[in-house]
Amino acid sequence: MSQVTFDAAGRTWLLRTPTTSYVLGLSDDDAPRALHWGAVLSPEQAASLCATPPAMASSFHGHDAGEELATETGARYDTPSLQVRFPGGVRGVAWQYLGHEIDGGHLVIRFRDAAEPFELDLHYRVHDDSDAIDRWTCVRTGVPVTLTRCDSAAWTLPPLPGYRLSHVAGGWAAEHGLRRTELLTGESTLTSRRGLTSHQANPWFMIDAGDASEAHGEVWSGALAWSGSWRITLNRTQTGRVSVTGGAGHEGLTWRLDPGAEWRTPVFTGLHSTTGYGGASRAWHDHIVRHVLPNPEELRPVVYNSWEAVAFDVNEKSQRELAGLAARVGAELFVMDDAWFGGRTSDRAGLGDWWPNAERFPNGLNPLIDEVHGLGMRFGLWVEPEMVNPDSDLYRAHPDWVFHMPGRDRTELRNQLVLNFALPEVAAWAHGWLDKLLGEHAIDFLKWDFNRTLTEVGADQAWLDHVEAVYALIDRLRADHPGVRIEACAGGGGRTDLGMMGRTDQVWVSDNTDGHDRIAIQRGFTQIYPARAMSAWVTDSPNPVTGRSTPLAFRFHVAMAGALGLGGDLLNWTESDLETAAGLVARYKDLRPVIQHGVLHRLPSGAQYTLGDRTVILAWRGPVPHTAANPPQRLSALDPAARYRDEDTGTIHHGALLMSQGLVPAFPAGDYTSTLTVLRRLR
Ligand code: DGJ
Repeated sequence: MSQVTFDAAGRTWLLRTPTTSYVLGLSDDDAPRALHWGAVLSPEQAASLCATPPAMASSFHGHDAGEELATETGARYDTPSLQVRFPGGVRGVAWQYLGHEIDGGHLVIRFRDAAEPFELDLHYRVHDDSDAIDRWTCVRTGVPVTLTRCDSAAWTLPPLPGYRLSHVAGGWAAEHGLRRTELLTGESTLTSRRGLTSHQANPWFMIDAGDASEAHGEVWSGALAWSGSWRITLNRTQTGRVSVTGGAGHEGLTWRLDPGAEWRTPVFTGLHSTTGYGGASRAWHDHIVRHVLPNPEELRPVVYNSWEAVAFDVNEKSQRELAGLAARVGAELFVMDDAWFGGRTSDRAGLGDWWPNAERFPNGLNPLIDEVHGLGMRFGLWVEPEMVNPDSDLYRAHPDWVFHMPGRDRTELRNQLVLNFALPEVAAWAHGWLDKLLGEHAIDFLKWDFNRTLTEVGADQAWLDHVEAVYALIDRLRADHPGVRIEACAGGGGRTDLGMMGRTDQVWVSDNTDGHDRIAIQRGFTQIYPARAMSAWVTDSPNPVTGRSTPLAFRFHVAMAGALGLGGDLLNWTESDLETAAGLVARYKDLRPVIQHGVLHRLPSGAQYTLGDRTVILAWRGPVPHTAANPPQRLSALDPAARYRDEDTGTIHHGALLMSQGLVPAFPAGDYTSTLTVLRRLR
């Protein structure tokens, strides 16, 4: 049972999750300070922690204050989480505690500034079924103020012998590249200044003492629910402590808050676990399933998406042909991608003109939608609501609707500009056409794309308001069209985050569909995000992005690690390929509950999923010398006393040996090979 308790004598709060405790308290100056984040503590143990740190020996000495939201008042030199400027040259918040409220697992601690009419609420939320702790901040002001940073929360780690940071780095077609590195003394910043989550970094961190492995060790982690610019700053002080502050927006943006206005930050969730990176990942998956995804229990359909088959060369005839083949191989959802609308026959025109292209769809979309439904599949459509091509009726009518600045060029990227959803008329226009599109067509699924970063955002506030408006729009569409499912996409995986995941069903992880490259991309993705939200297509060989040729079974076995889809040009696949594909899609559907809803254990070169008495093991091997070793993969979390039968070969394995000696994948000869093993526990 999660719970929040308050010790009035020590002015400390104890937050309990199923397997962790978090303690914070007020120091003599009323500042809220982190006292513990880790193993379960009793109320008595928690109450023995002292929130008032030793005084600084001198202004030149280090000072590990561990504040819950570091401010700038007095002799504070930590990375500020909150920077506020009052009229008259006053800066920073002088904490004054007002009181707190506890409502189930939700704690709000209320403060005001000691002199200025400025209030802050620190929010904490714990759950009965998750070790995640959600935190966010609300500020209200009675005078005009300027905020130059207003983070959601700061996390302070316990004293550890070392600090190793895990995070992801990458780029387009190379998202979610896992990095593990000793945290440098000083400040390290993970950030996006692009107005979207980004391909280059992703808003999460994991920290361990340098001793964790996939299966063992304490890991402290956090993830931010925000889809615009963001910043997470990790500060390892000279005295050896680490704190992590994070929130929306990048450096240099300032926000003015007028009297009466309230600012609520996005949620920054923290999670402590004791079972290594793998355990941390599973705890995140579980938390996201229980508390973030809107429809977690639904099995994700096998998608067919036409993008890699036809790119911009879309027409009703070829879509019908592809739909026929997609249905034949077992797809359950047919998604028509870009270029079905307006004058969109290339990336140079048409974005913003959201009506069917009359030459390509002379009778509108309904004939194709009916055909797809008649084939037994659901119908999905690509949209990119936040974008406009200058060559469009929309832009010609409303050139002022895009982000722009007087006297500056309007930077075109992919020949497009970004509509400023912070303007109410623009957000209303987007809602109008999307609501009509969904109301007038039996559309089951939207792929919501975003293919360029923000530039020329004149008003700092718009960096945030745009994202909030997108959230509000998606929330409203979902409420009014509850049957519609949504895939988040931004030129691949540029919008993978808990904010988007809270209002969409799956994420297009990368435009790189090369099975070999995908292994690393998916490994990075699953550090935090669950397999059921990981869209993965099987596409053509050679791969259109990398030019690499890989066998069909390998491509399938890699894509089967998440929500399997197909994206190749099925019109060019051989009969034999189509038959193989149909067989593997059928196999996936049988295994899908285990892969999508099971527990994931990453293996050195594969993945294990277990649900009930079934375990699925996918193993992959790239090009290796002929004589290279083929090490056994040790499985996890099986019943050591049970026997397991290989569903294909009938071989009986002992659970204890699968975990101690491992399973040797029977890779076929050649490069880019893979195996799929399904074990069933015997009673
Ligand atoms: C980028 C996406 O990631 C692709 O899958 C495709 O939808 C294109 N945009 C279409 O322009």
